[in-house]
Amino acid sequence: MPVSELSKKDEIKNELCKTGIEELDIMLGGGVPTGSTVLVVGSSGSGKTTLCMQYLINGAKEGERGVFFTITEPLFKLTKNMEGFNFYDKKLIESGMVNLIDLRIISERLGLDTEKYTVEDASALLDILRDIADELNVKRLIIDSITALCYRLQTPEMIRDFIFKLGSSLAAMKCTTLLTSEVPPRKFQYSQYGIEEFISDGIMFLGDIERKGDLIRTFQLVKMRGAAHSRTKAAMSISTKNGVELTPLLKSRE
Ligand SMILES: Nc1ncnc2c1ncn2[C@@H]1O[C@H](COP(=O)(O)OP(=O)(O)O)[C@@H](O)[C@H]1O
Ligand SMILES: [Mg+2]
Repeated sequence: MPVSELSKKDEIKNELCKTGIEELDIMLGGGVPTGSTVLVVGSSGSGKTTLCMQYLINGAKEGERGVFFTITEPLFKLTKNMEGFNFYDKKLIESGMVNLIDLRIISERLGLDTEKYTVEDASALLDILRDIADELNVKRLIIDSITALCYRLQTPEMIRDFIFKLGSSLAAMKCTTLLTSEVPPRKFQYSQYGIEEFISDGIMFLGDIERKGDLIRTFQLVKMRGAAHSRTKAAMSISTKNGVELTPLLKSRE
C-alpha cells in the first residue's frame, strides 16, 4: 500500500465518531473509533433500534450521512416508533441525510425469496448493501439485525461464511457501523450464532437487572478496539424527551 494511503487510513483510525449520547461518548473516551464495526447486543425491547437510530440521527445533525438497513420491522413501523422521540427529525430523512432501507424490499427487487437465502442470495445482498453505502457516501451504517439476516440462511456453515464476508466488506468501508444482535433475555451472550463478535471491533451490551420487582435497563461497553474505554455498568433509560440516556451505576468512574 502506498505511504499516502497508509497515512490516510491511520488518519481515519485516529478519528472518533461521536454518538451524540453524552455519557456514552464519555465512556468511549470521545466516540467510536471511526471505521469500527460495533455489535449492539440485547434482547427484544432492550433499546437496540432506538440507540442505533439516535446515533444515526445525531451524526446527520453534524453533517454525517447515514443509512439504516432494517430487516426486523417494516419502514412504516420503524418511522412510527421513532417519530415518538424528540431526537427524531423527519427533515433529515427527506433531505437524504438519513436513509432508511428495508432489506426485505431490496431482496424482493432482486427476485430473492425474502425468508430464505442461498449463498448466492446472501452474497448479492451484501454487494447491494456495499453499493448503496458507497453511492450514498455514508459515514454511518446500521444493520438491524444481523440475527434476522442470519436466520434466513440454512446451515451453520452458510451463516459463518456470510458473517465473515460481511465483516470483511465492512472492514473495507470507511463508515462506522452498528450491527444489532438479538439474544434471549437475561442471558449473558453476545450473539445467536456465536461468531458475530469475531467480526466486531466493539460490543455494547444492553441488559437489565431486577430491583424490587422493577426491571432496570443497563448498558455496558464490553469491548472497543483502539479506545481506552470504561467497562462500568451504566443505568440506561429511554424517554421521549431524551431517547437513550446513560447514567453510571457507580459514582466513581474509576
Ligand atoms: N416514545 C418512547 N418513549 C419512551 N420509551 C419508548 C418510546 N418508544 C419506545 N420506548 C421504549 O423502548 C423500547 C423498545 O426499544 P427498541 O429500541 O425498539 O428495542 P429493541 O430494538 O432492542 O427491540 C420499548 O419497549 C419502550 O420501553
Ligand atoms: Mg429493534
